[in-house]
Amino acid sequence: METKIFQCNKEFHQENIKEAANLLCKGEAVAFPTETVYGIGANAFESAAVAKIFAAKGRPSDNPLNVLVPSKRVAFSLAENIPNYVEPLMDVFSPGPITYILPSAGKVASNVSAHLGTVGVRIPDHQIALQLLKETALPLAAPSANLSGKPSPTTATHVIDDLMGRVAAIIDGGPTNVGLESTVVDCTGAIPIILRTGMIAQEDIQQVVGACHLAPALKMPSNKYKHYLPEVPLIVVEDKEQLSHAIQEEISTGKRVGVIKASGGHIPQVDKVYLLGTNEEGMAIKLYDTLRSLKSSEIDVVISEPFTSSIIMDRLKSAATKVI
Ligand code: TXA
Ligand code: MG
Repeated sequence: METKIFQCNKEFHQENIKEAANLLCKGEAVAFPTETVYGIGANAFESAAVAKIFAAKGRPSDNPLNVLVPSKRVAFSLAENIPNYVEPLMDVFSPGPITYILPSAGKVASNVSAHLGTVGVRIPDHQIALQLLKETALPLAAPSANLSGKPSPTTATHVIDDLMGRVAAIIDGGPTNVGLESTVVDCTGAIPIILRTGMIAQEDIQQVVGACHLAPALKMPSNKYKHYLPEVPLIVVEDKEQLSHAIQEEISTGKRVGVIKASGGHIPQVDKVYLLGTNEEGMAIKLYDTLRSLKSSEIDVVISEPFTSSIIMDRLKSAATKVI
């Protein structure tokens, strides 16, 4: 399939957005930026359009997609039996990096939610995503625009690497500003439950509605699949004391070793050092680009030091071949 590339990076091109919206209205899949990561969108009302997302990503059909909507009103129109705590959460955190899993009113195609009877809705905080929602007047199913199992894309180049020839169009809107996927909150029960951590934390939610729980790791439909797999094996060290031992062990077997760390310079005998920086926002922006930049032509294994940010550690561990 021919993939059109629309430039909206330096300047906002209204006619490009209109053309992309047209493709979406015709039932095509189009990748575009949101404030978290790039998404691959399709008409959430039409199961054939949604099926194109699963095909393009190589995504297992039992892993549900979240749906982007322009407003609380549209979000509520897709759901029913909405718990009272949802509205105050949306008033504080949306538009923004948070997805609410609600009981579905049966309006979106059922393959969107892997036939679970729920719908995950998010109001994006990004001009291009919002403009597409306005032009199409459709809710857009929009998971991250990576091939299944690869790190989420934070630049158009990442999307092009994964999806060229697999979607009708890709909108280049420059790097995303959050860099990590949204917090996913199950809002089908008496208390909100976080299924995936993100920039909006458990404490933030608790401050608005009192109680909020963290799900046990296995509750999330996607957690049975390995995520964010880089090109070379990744060892995540949880105990900083173990870091130099782990590095030495890999060097002693003749491997070319890379190290992911917050700051600091060259480490003797280590081939490459990848710095994520010391503040959480900066790390979030760099993480996936770093994971995608690990090349087997340069190193045989990469070792990550422990990070105090749990949202960074969650993602690193999800990408790891080994955690020690
Ligand atoms: O920030 C984001 O959420 C990005 C942007 C593009 O919107 N999207 C994203 O999509 O990260 P994806 O598919 O990579 O992650 C959405 C997560 C999945 O892990 C999926 O299992 C979960 O949300 N999810 C979606 N709908 C669900 C549902 N009805 N029930 C339970 N989990 C759901
Ligand atoms: Mg994803």
